[in-house]
Amino acid sequence: MIAQDIVRTVDFPKERRIGPSGRLRKIRCADNRLARARAISWIVRAKIARDPAPTGARSNVSIERLRLIRPDDWHLHVRDGAMLDSVVPDTARQFARAIIMPNLKPPVTTVAQALHYRQRILAALPEDAGFQPLMTLYLTGQTSPEEIRRAADCEHVYAVKYYPAGATTNSAAGVANIRQASAALKAMQDCRLPLLMHGEVTDPAVDVFDREAVFIERDLSWLLASFPELPMVLEHITTADSASFVRSGPDNLAATITAHHLLENRNAMFRGGLRPHHYCLPVLKREAHRQALIEAAISGHPRFFLGTDSAPHPKAAKESDCGCAGIYTARTALGLYAEVFEAAGALDRLEGFASLHGPDFYRLPRNTDTIELVRRPEPVPELIEFGGQPGVPFRAGGEVRWRLA
Ligand code: DOR
Ligand code: ZN
Repeated sequence: MIAQDIVRTVDFPKERRIGPSGRLRKIRCADNRLARARAISWIVRAKIARDPAPTGARSNVSIERLRLIRPDDWHLHVRDGAMLDSVVPDTARQFARAIIMPNLKPPVTTVAQALHYRQRILAALPEDAGFQPLMTLYLTGQTSPEEIRRAADCEHVYAVKYYPAGATTNSAAGVANIRQASAALKAMQDCRLPLLMHGEVTDPAVDVFDREAVFIERDLSWLLASFPELPMVLEHITTADSASFVRSGPDNLAATITAHHLLENRNAMFRGGLRPHHYCLPVLKREAHRQALIEAAISGHPRFFLGTDSAPHPKAAKESDCGCAGIYTARTALGLYAEVFEAAGALDRLEGFASLHGPDFYRLPRNTDTIELVRRPEPVPELIEFGGQPGVPFRAGGEVRWRLA
């Protein structure tokens, strides 16, 4: 933007939010369902440098500042021990809440473990951080319906994560055949406790780039048919097939989308050589899939929402002959998403994706406080510290176009 541009304030489409209290509440009706809270209207304001496009349309206006209802991260890895002190503050600076993945070593399989883990996360928060970790349980072949009911009754547990055994980092204790977890799934459906899915088959005969599509075919279709009332989230979707499956799917099916899958295609893993810091699971896909993910994210469709899947691994664990899957985006996550929405001329849709659709799907109150982003480059360090070890963040040594004001 040039100095003499006239900066005006424009009202984008009206959205709804929960008020008046920003406190996180898990509200249950007599029938143990999470209740929808009431909504009030909200207007996104953005300063723009020239005429806005018609409401909701994509445009090339140059927006300099953006105020959003504070967003939440609906898929996050923070690990444990010393790592917590390094990574939790990055997320707490930007987000009000985050769904915390349970793939620790050993995994978080019980409510008691989830509550202890929550305490360790809270202890790693900077003073005055209002951040709320939303805990999850790790589904195993032994997860009992009783444990599921305990989870549903616990105000700090919000979902159960299904890792197909062997699909990704610390998934060895996951479920080999989801049909064998039917009793737990039935209990989850009864309690409306969401199932979060790492949606990839582990069949070695299936090409690594096709594992998500085959998961839909073999497992997700069965899950939807067998548990039509169970809220399900297909996590970190990576393909056009997944985006269109979710879009045309039932209301109990949603998807999260990461910043890295929106910003990179699979060439990033091979740019000038092997690039382990762009290796994650599900693996990055070809450009046409990235474009389809962007379309889904900016579509305004309420069943697509933000989940970073930020997954810290020490540098040495990534740069190895069997490097770990995972990309650390938490440091600049919101700025990265803002880049995507800006490039697509859809900044007016960022708030829905980042702050509204997630709580609505989880039937939680929307946040009431706001954050401001400014279009000013944020440098990303080459290295950051992960619990005393060096780690390489996404975009290391580069910069992100947007930052917190
Ligand atoms: O890239 C990934 N990293 N994908 C996952 O599913 C797990 C995560 C991790 O825990 O490192
Ligand atoms: Zn993950």
